[in-house]
Amino acid sequence: MSREIFALKGTICYSTSPTELSITEGGYVVCENGHCAGVFPELPDRYRQIPCTDFGDELIIPGLTDLHIHAPQYTFRASGMDLELLDWLNTITFPQEARYEDTEFARAAYTIFAEDLKKGPNTRACIFGTLHVPATEILMELLNQTGLKTMVGKVNMDRNGSPVLQETSAQASADATLSWLEDTLTKFENVKPILTPRFIPSCSDELMEKLSALQQKYHLPVQSHLSENLGEIAWVQELCPDTHFYGEAYSRFGLFGGDCPTIMAHCVHSSDEEIALMKKQGVYIAHCPQSNINLSSGIAPVRRYLDEGLHVGLGSDVAGGTCSSILRAMADAIQVSKLYWRLIDSSMKPLTLEEAFYMGTEGGGSFFGKAGSFKEGYEFDAVVLNSSTIPTPLKLSPKDRLERLVYLSDDRNISAKYTAGRKIL
Ligand code: GUN
Ligand code: FE
Repeated sequence: MSREIFALKGTICYSTSPTELSITEGGYVVCENGHCAGVFPELPDRYRQIPCTDFGDELIIPGLTDLHIHAPQYTFRASGMDLELLDWLNTITFPQEARYEDTEFARAAYTIFAEDLKKGPNTRACIFGTLHVPATEILMELLNQTGLKTMVGKVNMDRNGSPVLQETSAQASADATLSWLEDTLTKFENVKPILTPRFIPSCSDELMEKLSALQQKYHLPVQSHLSENLGEIAWVQELCPDTHFYGEAYSRFGLFGGDCPTIMAHCVHSSDEEIALMKKQGVYIAHCPQSNINLSSGIAPVRRYLDEGLHVGLGSDVAGGTCSSILRAMADAIQVSKLYWRLIDSSMKPLTLEEAFYMGTEGGGSFFGKAGSFKEGYEFDAVVLNSSTIPTPLKLSPKDRLERLVYLSDDRNISAKYTAGRKIL
């Protein structure tokens, strides 16, 4: 943690609720020992002597959280996008992920991934690796050096993979997971392990039982996929005939919220029962609009999730998604919500900019604790955005400028970035 105290001056913008933005032009946001000490229209006397960087009228927003991304898929993003989920996994994704058995390849690929993540607007991420322990540890080491705060999962898959990408048994998968946990639980300042059963079709009951025991022993968080695609859901029903809905295939092993902090990606086709259980158990939904379009999965009913008070953040789901910027995911979320409203259910109003901004900042950030906001006491994650790539002679309000920066998301607009008080860019 940084022991420094400093201020940033600019147009400070953050969510005060899921539907409201606070905007302070010519304001100051103060960082003290890695945490936010508040936003001030004038710098209070007690801070007169502290270093202050003046960013003029540039926007200063909280760091963004990507709640769902696959690091090994970064190499082939934006290719092979004409398939639906299960065919895409079998023909493109699994053969590509198999390459990470080769640690030299893994280091080369993950170096590019970590460098690009550092250059973008996200300050935190929950990341899938592959089933390979050495490659996943390389990924963690490289991410730790970026200063970003991340959770990384060695993927578990002991069934329905491919000859080149599947663990040999539930026991082998659990043993590899234990050895990875022992190596990484306390090794990194910025990177923590997260249990990562790929999805139910990839994980036998025996494996899920063993992961459940590890979860309880080490109090680990969990990330997985849920109700993304109709074919996938039908397959889970065949594989787990005793369950009433997909989420129950996780919850019967205690891997669905409650004492087990959980992120479920997608939730495009969740039933009423599944939604009620996610709400009761405090499961985080990672809404991945770009992936849902690319893989023709459908549109998640995010308006409903927000209105019913579920936890919702945004995910890029690279390489289902092509772009890792959560600014882009905000725009995509608004756009697909308009299609949902117009084409599927006219009672489900489109998302506002405020709501999308909340999901990309505090909505997802809160999975890490107090993150994603400039409220006092939150970890100091900040991104400074300039308009260098989008000049205009128009006199725009701060909110209009924010909207353009979201819709035209471009890493070249980032002037500076801080995570937990530390300057990253
Ligand atoms: N379900 C299981 N694995 C994956 C994956 O790699 N990407 C997506 N989008 N869904 C999945
Ligand atoms: Fe995914």
